[in-house]
Amino acid sequence: MKLFQSSTREVPAVAAVPSHVAIIMDGNGRWAKQRFLPRVAGHKQGVETVREAVKACSELGVGYLTLFAFSSENWRRPVEEVSFLMGLFLAALEREVAKLDKNGIRLKLIGRRDRFSAEIVRSIEAAEARTATNTGLTLTIAADYGGRWDILQATQAMLKARPELAGGELDEADLAPFLAMAYAPEPDLFIRTGGEARVSNFLLWQLAYTELYFTDAYWPDFDRAALESAISSYRNRERRFGRTSEQLKGSAC
Ligand code: IPE
Ligand code: IPE
Ligand code: MG
Repeated sequence: MKLFQSSTREVPAVAAVPSHVAIIMDGNGRWAKQRFLPRVAGHKQGVETVREAVKACSELGVGYLTLFAFSSENWRRPVEEVSFLMGLFLAALEREVAKLDKNGIRLKLIGRRDRFSAEIVRSIEAAEARTATNTGLTLTIAADYGGRWDILQATQAMLKARPELAGGELDEADLAPFLAMAYAPEPDLFIRTGGEARVSNFLLWQLAYTELYFTDAYWPDFDRAALESAISSYRNRERRFGRTSEQLKGSAC
């Protein structure tokens, strides 16, 4: 398994296209409300936007696209909404996997699996297995995911695999291989649609030095042009990772 250095140590070049884009897809409910539709109509439309975003990222040469689909906290929603979301998730998994596979996309799911139905777990495992050797875009869906859960599960897995570390001094590099996204570089660009300026327990560890982009657009309205605007904003950022601007321009870093 290839492991990536923490972005808090090395300065990755700001490439024309970010290698990892992570998105909190928010605003489905408000998109629907604005149209006097039930909230779930917004979730349904949101799936269309996911399809467009995957296609656009694939074509633009983004290596990793990570989408927050359902947080650990989203179980607190009304039971009818949760069950609609589960149905939509299962239907999308089953319907889209052939097309993802045909387009060379590798699908990964991060998050807890023990609270999903057996049918969803089977479908996740089948989709991951079928696309495992694809070499195009890696599409990660974060479902029943929470950043704090991730850090805790990684700590537990690390101590199980390497009990000699207990009580000793730990390094970031000891924990990193056990995080749910150890297969990917840390996100270069984080996008949140829907107008809220918060991280909502998404990739807490991995976002340490990610460039953040917030937009008022509701997720179902976030089209290719909106995605390209986010990427173009990223291109104008100077990633310093604690250093000074002068250090980056000179050879001192
Ligand atoms: C995001 O849209 C989708 C999920 C969290 C599953 P919301 O459902 O949060 O939409 P708003 O924020 O209520 O508009
Ligand atoms: C964050 O959206 C989670 C997902 C998009 C899956 P929420 O709408 O649940 O976030 P909060 O609760 O408003 O922060
Ligand atoms: Mg929301």
